[in-house]
Amino acid sequence: MSAAHGPDEYGVIGHPVAHSWSPFIHERFARETGQALVYRRHDVPPERFREYVLDFAARGGCGLNVTIPHKAAAAAISAELTARAKCAGAVNTLTFDHGSIRGDNTDGAGLVADLRTHLALRLAGARILLAGAGGAARGVLGPILELGPAEVVVANRTSERARVLADEFALLGRVRGCAFSELPAIAFDLVLNATAASLSGEVPPIPHAAVGPATVCYDMAYARADTPFVSWARERGCRRAVQGWGMLVEQAAESFEIWRGVRPSTASVLELLERPPA
Ligand code: ATR
Repeated sequence: MSAAHGPDEYGVIGHPVAHSWSPFIHERFARETGQALVYRRHDVPPERFREYVLDFAARGGCGLNVTIPHKAAAAAISAELTARAKCAGAVNTLTFDHGSIRGDNTDGAGLVADLRTHLALRLAGARILLAGAGGAARGVLGPILELGPAEVVVANRTSERARVLADEFALLGRVRGCAFSELPAIAFDLVLNATAASLSGEVPPIPHAAVGPATVCYDMAYARADTPFVSWARERGCRRAVQGWGMLVEQAAESFEIWRGVRPSTASVLELLERPPA
């Protein structure tokens, strides 16, 4: 494989992974930056993850993006973790280099880049609601707190998980955890949906008062049609409701730069994903 026998090999490993847009995105990046590489999907069940990754690396593979349900296992297999991957407790980017495995997490940076660049949001001093306290929420909480918001409230169906997560990140800024029913009746500047509710066609039980006419609602999930959360947010009359295509493309650009040392531009790929040709 790769180095000696052809183009460098990358891919995305998940289960399931057939729906992943990562090959499309990375192929566009490679073309645009003139990099010779291949990028494939790898559908691997949890019990085969470790063996599969070690074999991929041993055969000369250069890097893997990691998606559901392997992000924690990818952290465990990494010999070296970046500070943000350690903080997130999860890895979405593995780099194989002369027998070593380095784990990084570009999800938070991807979200922040989308909020800043594509949505032009300034979040210093903002009040942010983070819905969810699972792996997706954990991956973005650190980078969100680094933006200097006035407060981040983590709300979760299982409130204890929200409190534990908030306590873990308390050194990074003002953050507290609670149940959805305990949220104050004041509209937030930004509401981030990091729950897995969209996967089952549901919306997390966010009180209506949390969303006002100045609120931006962001779903970290994405779909061809509006996600249930985006439809819900529109019906509440929020300022803007967007799904996470931008986060997807930006986290990919960050991974691509880690692997190839060159930053691809994201705007044209994002446009293709958000507005596919009819
Ligand atoms: P992920 O890595 O996608 O975050 P996870 O760690 O299993 O996956 O976490 C899923 C998150 O979505 C949790 O916050 C979960 O709430 P609980 O901790 O109470 O389980 C949340 N979630 C899933 N389905 C939901 C639903 N229908 N309504 C509200 N929250 C939901």
